[in-house]
Amino acid sequence: MRLQPSLISSTKRNAAYAADTEFDRQHLWHPYESAQAAELRPLVVAAEGVYLQLADGRQLIDGMASWWSAIHGYNQPRLNAAVSTQLQQMSHVMFGGLAHPPAVALGQLLLELAPGHFDQVFYSDSGSVAVEVALKMALQYWRGRGQPERQRFLALRGGYHGDTFGAMSVCDPVTGMHQLFRGGMPKQYFVPRPSVPFGTDCDERELEPVARSLKRHGQHIAALIVEPIVQGAGGMWFYSADYLRRLRELCDTADVLLIADEIATGFGRTGRMFACEHAALQADVLCLGKALTGGYMSLGATLCSATVAAGVNASEARALLHGPTFMANPLACAVAAESVRLLLESPWSERVMAIEAGFKSSLEVARSLPGVADVRCLGAIAVIELREPPADPALLQRRLLDRGVWLRPFGRLIYAMPPYTIERSELEQLASAMVEAAR
Ligand SMILES: Cc1ncc(COP(=O)(O)O)c(C=O)c1O
Repeated sequence: MRLQPSLISSTKRNAAYAADTEFDRQHLWHPYESAQAAELRPLVVAAEGVYLQLADGRQLIDGMASWWSAIHGYNQPRLNAAVSTQLQQMSHVMFGGLAHPPAVALGQLLLELAPGHFDQVFYSDSGSVAVEVALKMALQYWRGRGQPERQRFLALRGGYHGDTFGAMSVCDPVTGMHQLFRGGMPKQYFVPRPSVPFGTDCDERELEPVARSLKRHGQHIAALIVEPIVQGAGGMWFYSADYLRRLRELCDTADVLLIADEIATGFGRTGRMFACEHAALQADVLCLGKALTGGYMSLGATLCSATVAAGVNASEARALLHGPTFMANPLACAVAAESVRLLLESPWSERVMAIEAGFKSSLEVARSLPGVADVRCLGAIAVIELREPPADPALLQRRLLDRGVWLRPFGRLIYAMPPYTIERSELEQLASAMVEAAR
């Protein structure tokens, strides 16, 4: 559904918008960009369904769902109502020493829905902070168990877990930011990226580096952290569920905790409610974010088992040492609870499978293009991997905008993960823009 003209703000004239984009270019820092951008950025003034409305009148299909988060699309009436209703009650109250109904309602839903047996929920501000909390939980757990020497983490190459220092330290050491910040970052252990693709079994050789690392360093490792099934920002790679299953076995043998970072994959994106379900994986700690609030606002959650919580409680602090000012923000919890209910009441699984089927058939032609190395789709995620990065990324971006879609290719990847509510014709437009961009 396209935006109705009446929804588009008419309070600003074009000249004012032009001034806004110029101010933005000169003074506002954007993700991973230099202080003064070379180009003006499209100014979004409204959004509805899968469309972004630009100030200059163009409407773009959002193929990014605002970085995996807007799974229901924009301006969703039930989510709007959840925020407005909560706003009338209270927008925020500290969580230190106080409780409130939205946090309870969301906690109940998450513990019911999470893959496996989790017992405790810790709310935080964002995905990266949810990862920091997970790392702290693991470190404090081992202190509680009388093994304070377990200070390190094991991670997969090609992983991405966020931009704060602890999270950065478990991101891929080459494509991550290790070089730049190495002076201030904890040192971790890494094993090669799983090379076995999704849908195939893996043999022992694939797991050897993990087994070796756990054997050699296990007594210093607090946890293994993984993005289950989909390595997102580190390369949009879909790997074997069999590999994931065996990671659990290896962790059990080495008595090492397993942290599943489902910040990108949670809430249906891979075709299962959680990617862990592809491997029937029970993690010890689970990180959630992004789609948790349906993309309405920032919220992270870290869940852990009763065993992990008991270990943390047994540590000398007798408490988990983290407590953000905006922990369990009531507006965020209220909209997150409604987003989860909306998802459960929707035919989300059919929608995600239809997106997968649509992408598979529409992107097939890209496979034979000379510059294309691979095309892969899983759930509501589609990737065209080029052989080389585009010579002129800004030109590629303009071509996509000209075709009425919003995508943000990085490196050799042109990829999409649209809202689940995208319609067939919109999906076709998105896919054909990806193919033309690759061409
Ligand atoms: C798997 C994963 N973990 C953690 C994060 C960090 O989340 P945030 O950007 O909300 O801090 C991301 C963000 O892309 C992610 O994909």
